[in-house]
Amino acid sequence: MLRKIECFIQPFKLDAIKEALIKAGVDGMSVTEVKGFGRQRGYINGEIPNKEVKFLPKTKLEIVVDEEVVDDVTKLIVKLARTGKIGAGKIFIIPVEDAIRIRTSESGKSAVT
Ligand SMILES: Nc1ncnc2c1ncn2[C@@H]1O[C@H](COP(=O)(O)OP(=O)(O)OP(=O)(O)O)[C@@H](O)[C@H]1O
Ligand SMILES: [Mg+2]
Repeated sequence: MLRKIECFIQPFKLDAIKEALIKAGVDGMSVTEVKGFGRQRGYINGEIPNKEVKFLPKTKLEIVVDEEVVDDVTKLIVKLARTGKIGAGKIFIIPVEDAIRIRTSESGKSAVT
């Protein structure tokens, strides 16, 4: 079974996480600059919240891997993305029906490793 690890991190953490994931053997990822909010609705420590929701810049990583490595990859991301503060991010793990490498038509696990 393939899974997509979709995670939202602080943009300044991207380089270190990318390097660590490559060292850990991850063979592909997609990165998007996004805006988002969590349960503080975009307010940082010390700010007085009002009714308006604020979007903060975040970086989204999408990494499709075999289920065997999901735990290792997510633990690595959690370790490196943690800041000790609010807004450090969130990880979602999503089942993936199938994957196809277009060049070769390989599918399933062979398409992502
Ligand atoms: N339920 C959600 N659905 C989709 N994206 C989310 C969700 N929760 C958080 N995000 C994304 O993750 C980013 C970081 O969330 P954040 O770390 O602030 O979560 P939190 O639940 O508020 O935790 P904390 O209390 O540690 O701040 C958000 O800016 C948003 O892009
Ligand atoms: Mg938050």
